[in-house]
Amino acid sequence: MPPLTSEIINGNIDKAVSSKVYDDFIVKLLNELTSNPNFDPNIEFDPSKHIIFNSETDFDKYKVTTLSDISIEHDEAISNCAFTPAFPLFSEEAIDIMRYELFQEKVFKQYGRAANLTRFKGLDVQIGGYTHLTPFTAKALTHEKTMEVLNKYAGLELQVMMPFELGSINFGIKPYERVEDEKKNKEIYLAKNAKAFDKDADFVRGWHHDSNSFSFILMMSDTKDMIGGETALKTGNGEILKIDNYEKGWASLVQAHCINHIALKPYCSVERITSVTSYRAKDLLHMDPTVITTIKPSIFPRTIYNTFYPEWMDYRLDVMGEKIAWLRRKVAQDRENHRDFNQIEMINYLEDLTTYIRGSWREFEAVDEGHIEQPPLRRYIRNWAHNDRDLSSAIYNFEYEK
Ligand SMILES: [Fe+2]
Repeated sequence: MPPLTSEIINGNIDKAVSSKVYDDFIVKLLNELTSNPNFDPNIEFDPSKHIIFNSETDFDKYKVTTLSDISIEHDEAISNCAFTPAFPLFSEEAIDIMRYELFQEKVFKQYGRAANLTRFKGLDVQIGGYTHLTPFTAKALTHEKTMEVLNKYAGLELQVMMPFELGSINFGIKPYERVEDEKKNKEIYLAKNAKAFDKDADFVRGWHHDSNSFSFILMMSDTKDMIGGETALKTGNGEILKIDNYEKGWASLVQAHCINHIALKPYCSVERITSVTSYRAKDLLHMDPTVITTIKPSIFPRTIYNTFYPEWMDYRLDVMGEKIAWLRRKVAQDRENHRDFNQIEMINYLEDLTTYIRGSWREFEAVDEGHIEQPPLRRYIRNWAHNDRDLSSAIYNFEYEK
């Protein structure tokens, strides 16, 4: 594991997007938008116009697949939803305004970092923690109408993991000449994409589980000519399924913490821009298996150390605070109701809280450096308020077997 270097603490500024790269690649994309006389970047987000998902018919048309459907049983699943197919969510106008906001110099230069996890030869940039500069994007992604769709698919109410992980961007762009060349050899790339699961195959992001429970993937590029560029995942039987047919403005929701998945390399298209938002359960008493293994600053240069960690602690301390307040109320109520103080029950809750507290620092780079031994991952109680098993007579199985 990489140590906690001064580059990481200073926000990986050495991997920031240079003026030349911005001028050569991004200004062109920005000009394409602004040269359209009908384009107006000052339009406010309006769900009745910008959300194109039809709640009456589209849940049936784009049916969710459950974890049971794909033979996955996972101790850390927060619901039975596995993934949705790609479904139409935002209008072309909405995505164009999001693209306009994203392509601003400030966003790219302050928050864009060269990606180091891809084999997508061209320009690869990841951007996180920028949505305070992009009001339309932030509103679209967090609007109650958007959340209604995602919550219904997920089977429980979701909450953005933390502001930094709202709409983080995977941006890939290739030279036009290379794309023209790929288009001439379309058959080769179709065959290559069919074999995209070989371990030597090119990918945007290799096989992994996400740190957070649910990931929401939004396609922000035109995919008319694109071959590949999909998310593929492995079922419990080892079978590989693809979430394909993404179009610009289409999205999917995946419980990516529990499912091994890969983002395939796109061919025959100049750009692939996706926005990924991380979710956890909104109910703070619900199990929260979120880790930072795949997104911490030493792994992802776009994760800015001094923004990310204070936000991470805000969120973890919120959950701890809610759990302590709930436990305090329970102790008071039991006393009022003349119920015997139950030591076993108290051990269960306090051990679960200890696991959560340890889970809040077990992936820190300081642990990777060996300053303190990394505690093992352990199982969580499913929900403190609505637990499906009796915690008052036996010690919960806190051991975690992988
Ligand atoms: Fe992922």
